[in-house]
Amino acid sequence: MRGNPEVVDYLNMLIGGELAARDQYLIHSRMYEDWGLTKIFERIDHEMQEEASHADSIIRRVLFLEGTPNMNRDDIVTGEDVVTCLKADLALEYHVREKLAQGVKLCEEKGDYVTRDMLRQQMSDTEEDHTYWLEKQIRLIELIGLQNYIQSQM
Ligand SMILES: [Fe+2]
Ligand SMILES: [Fe+2]
Repeated sequence: MRGNPEVVDYLNMLIGGELAARDQYLIHSRMYEDWGLTKIFERIDHEMQEEASHADSIIRRVLFLEGTPNMNRDDIVTGEDVVTCLKADLALEYHVREKLAQGVKLCEEKGDYVTRDMLRQQMSDTEEDHTYWLEKQIRLIELIGLQNYIQSQM
């Protein structure tokens, strides 16, 4: 089914952000694993899979709307330690959240309600799951100190 060209272009821009989130979680989870932080590794490995599935849904939607998916991913920021990794991931989630919100608005304007529902679902994963979890980790580090936090993630 032929999609609205502006919606297709917007979805193509969103793919880049989801692929970046996937790859940033890929490198950070592997760093956590290498540091022996098994718990946070498992959590971030799971986030990586969710970002891949977000990208997958958007790619499938672009194909369905008779567009050509753009597989260029946005740049990633690799942290150097637990705190800079968490903060880089949180910054990326905030950025993606803003882009999704604008996408929901555009889909609404163009009357593409199925795409809107897909993006809205990804927004709740972004806000209520990924962003919320990252905010909690940063708050925990402030509360209990980095050493204690790191110990809790071994
Ligand atoms: Fe995502
Ligand atoms: Fe996310």
